[in-house]
Amino acid sequence: MEKLKNKVIIITGAAMGLGLASASEAAKNGALLSLIDFNPESLEKAKNEIKSDYPDTQILTTVADVSNEESVKGFVEDTVKAFGRIDGFYNNAGIEGRQAPLVDYDLEVFKKVVDINLMGVYFGIKYIIPVMQKQEYGRIVNVASVGGIRGVMNQTPYVATKHAVAGITKTTALEYGKFGILANAIAPGAILTPMVAEAFKQVNPSNPQAAEDEYAKANPTKRLGRPEEVAKLVVFLLSEDCSYVNGQIIAIDGGQSNAYGNV
Ligand SMILES: NC(=O)c1ccc[n+]([C@@H]2O[C@H](COP(=O)([O-])OP(=O)(O)OC[C@H]3O[C@@H](n4cnc5c(N)ncnc54)[C@H](O)[C@@H]3O)[C@@H](O)[C@H]2O)c1
Repeated sequence: MEKLKNKVIIITGAAMGLGLASASEAAKNGALLSLIDFNPESLEKAKNEIKSDYPDTQILTTVADVSNEESVKGFVEDTVKAFGRIDGFYNNAGIEGRQAPLVDYDLEVFKKVVDINLMGVYFGIKYIIPVMQKQEYGRIVNVASVGGIRGVMNQTPYVATKHAVAGITKTTALEYGKFGILANAIAPGAILTPMVAEAFKQVNPSNPQAAEDEYAKANPTKRLGRPEEVAKLVVFLLSEDCSYVNGQIIAIDGGQSNAYGNV
């Protein structure tokens, strides 16, 4: 069964990683897609990839930076113009920043992480809620992280902004549940995407594979997650099947965030 048949779904950061995997799974499930990314070449490539797998999918693409409020307002308006409504919003675009202890953290990078991971997430919700309110229907899926429920060494702004995403999710759920809008967040552990591959390079520049193996060892499942696994959860949360889950921060991490000590 197509879980998102004729549902209009906006996905930010759709050109690669978790955004692309979810866009592809949404297309498989019958969605009409409005895909946003600030990387034009990768976004075009993503669109072609989805079209070749699911030729009937209608796809609107917009090159935009989610940390720019006017651009966010623009892609929300353009999506409504193109499709008439917005049923689901996968508020996914985010960056990790650089790895460094709190005192040494580069201030410009810190501010950039806040602009994208916190302000960008906020702007999207701000402009999409009024559309969903009129429809008396909507599903918002934000992207926190295990770093949104736990501390992570050397990632102060990332962890701070992902905790903020968890906070925004809970408040959105409280304020807009009465309008038929459900807001949840996923909290992925290490999922093998370009962002995580880059993080392993930073942790161990001469042997990123060793950093990856070390990370996998600490997980109860002894492996990293795959973007397609996250995409299935995202599609459920964007669908009508998700009807009474609201304001939750849902870990998808092989159980790692429950551990106290080695597993
Ligand atoms: N991969 C993981 O293990 C993991 C774990 C926890 C949370 N997350 C979160 O999931 C989300 C996606 O991560 P990913 O691993 O797929 O990353 P990724 O770097 O592989 O892909 C991110 C995509 O977002 C786009 N993007 C980044 N900043 C943008 C901006 N300002 N405006 C528009 N597009 C922008 C990039 O161009 C890219 O296409 C992020 O919010 C990340 O923090 C990922």
